[in-house]
Amino acid sequence: MSAADPRQELTVRRQRPEDDEPDRLPLAWALVRRTIDLTSPYPRWRRTLLALCAARAVQLPILAWLLAHVIRGPVSAGDPAALAPWIAGYAALVLATEATLYWRIRLAHQLGECVLRDMRDRMMAHLLTQPLAFFHARRHGSLISRMIGDIEQVRNGIQNNLFITLIQAGQMLGAAAVMLWIQPRLFLVLLALAPVLWAVNRHFRGRILDASRTQQESFSRVTAALAETVQGIRVTQGFAREETNAGIFSRLVHALAGNVVRTSRLVALFLPLLELNAQGFLAALVAVGGWMAATGTAGAGDLVAFFFLANLFFSPITLIGTQLSEATLAMASAERYFRILDTEPAWRDAPDAVPCPPLRGAVAFERVTFAYEEGRPVLHDVSFRAEPGEVVALVGHTGSGKSTIVNLLSKFHPPGAGRVTVDGLDLARVTQDSLRRQMGFVFQSNFLFSGTVADNVRQGRPGATDAEILAAFDALDCRDLVESLPKGIHTELSERGRGLSMGQQQLVAFARALVGDPRILVLDEATSAVDTLTEARLQVALARLMRGRTSFVVAHRLSTIRNADRILVLDHGRLAESGRHAELVAAGGPYARLHAEFTRREG
Ligand SMILES: Nc1ncnc2c1ncn2[C@@H]1O[C@H](COP(=O)(O)OP(=O)(O)OP(=O)(O)O)[C@@H](O)[C@H]1O
Ligand SMILES: [Mg+2]
Repeated sequence: MSAADPRQELTVRRQRPEDDEPDRLPLAWALVRRTIDLTSPYPRWRRTLLALCAARAVQLPILAWLLAHVIRGPVSAGDPAALAPWIAGYAALVLATEATLYWRIRLAHQLGECVLRDMRDRMMAHLLTQPLAFFHARRHGSLISRMIGDIEQVRNGIQNNLFITLIQAGQMLGAAAVMLWIQPRLFLVLLALAPVLWAVNRHFRGRILDASRTQQESFSRVTAALAETVQGIRVTQGFAREETNAGIFSRLVHALAGNVVRTSRLVALFLPLLELNAQGFLAALVAVGGWMAATGTAGAGDLVAFFFLANLFFSPITLIGTQLSEATLAMASAERYFRILDTEPAWRDAPDAVPCPPLRGAVAFERVTFAYEEGRPVLHDVSFRAEPGEVVALVGHTGSGKSTIVNLLSKFHPPGAGRVTVDGLDLARVTQDSLRRQMGFVFQSNFLFSGTVADNVRQGRPGATDAEILAAFDALDCRDLVESLPKGIHTELSERGRGLSMGQQQLVAFARALVGDPRILVLDEATSAVDTLTEARLQVALARLMRGRTSFVVAHRLSTIRNADRILVLDHGRLAESGRHAELVAAGGPYARLHAEFTRREG
């Protein structure tokens, strides 16, 4: 097994360019502003937080100054009586400082949580305005990570990076001001050390963050490979891919181990360097400050004050570095978030679109041409009519455009050229939701939501009673099949309808489509998962149910097609023939050939 065989990496390769978007972006003012603007619905919290940050920035330097002042004054003078009021004042300020911290953290989290909630609401509302094509063009996993990961990162940017940076910067300024005031020359000496600390921090912080990202990614590849091997174990063993998969897995695990070691090496080097810096700085303080105190240019009290203040001045350097580094992650996330939010729907209902009046169900395609991707039409100049109540069967080889026709009829996509009408009304002039409310759908694979069977059926008509739901199953002649479930229609479905057989899921989908009493019914390969016996029962029930509704049926089984009022034969996106079964067989065209093939296959 050679490492270069690209097929073996199939399971773990990144598949779309969107995976290669940058993890971080430099701070750009326009983006920072737009991100901060997310907090504008909460002006009072924002103002209070800024005030708390300002308070916090001066409180610590003042505490340090107070301590030094006590040492210089009452302590040096050996006056215990004068000590008491200072200590009381100190204690009061400490309490105030901690109260500020409490409120600062609490409000920041409150604000962050509200921003997070608003962002998710906005994103969801925006996603729901997007037409189907938007979702086809994107990986669902990546949309989900926008909703979860990116929004979380932006929240962190607002809630932590922004406020902590403000406080730390303020604290630096506060400490610098007090030091300048007490002993400017000593401060200037210390200031010379700041760039060294900044440079060390900058060098390592970025690398450590990058290394831990690589490590995380490496880890998720290991989990993905493991999950694919386990979930696809039948394919793995069936195609004797055990060795290949084990090889891929082993390589990934090795890569992960290497990445973890690389991260730890960086961390291991960074911490001693920081400590060295701090110690060097103390030594410099003792040397310069001690010399000044010894020669009488500075007091011992000043020196004590400097030990505290200098720490307040230097510790923000590393902290701010970390915050800014994290902020670049938040920037990349914000950019991705806003980009989705700024993606206008490729099309939407015309502004003057009206709600669909109650339909009779006459459908017409007038010279319809359609392409999913520009320049690659999949329907060419398709025209047909269906009278109210007719059953229309769509037949044709795979990829011939059957599902596309029902998608256009449901206004999931607008036609590129030509018109689709219902009751003579151009679909371009009616709103999507009012149209679909009068339609019922059953697809090849039907998504069921978690909840009970009844909840799922109710998607077809919110507010339907249990009796009405049971009546729908009754009408389908399969009430007994549903009642044999552990809790009947109140049986809980786990994720995606697991816990029901494919056939049972399809029955639920049928009931969901019918409970709303639709005028137009779309059944796209709807009975494919139902066993032959159940299908036979369903056929009878469906024939009854389709009566009075215009129905579009895509089916591969001859029995369904034979009884249709109209058969549309598609060939590579063109309407090759249309008519009734007997006419088409007699005509001896494409349908007759398909039919011969069917009869041979179905025996
Ligand atoms: N979302 C899409 N994006 C791009 N092309 C698509 C998309 N959906 C379908 N197509 C293409 O459009 C053509 C018609 O597809 P359609 O799904 O209508 O076929 P179908 O007749 O329903 O086939 P099947 O019997 O396999 O369900 C196919 O060539 C297919 O590759
Ligand atoms: Mg199809």
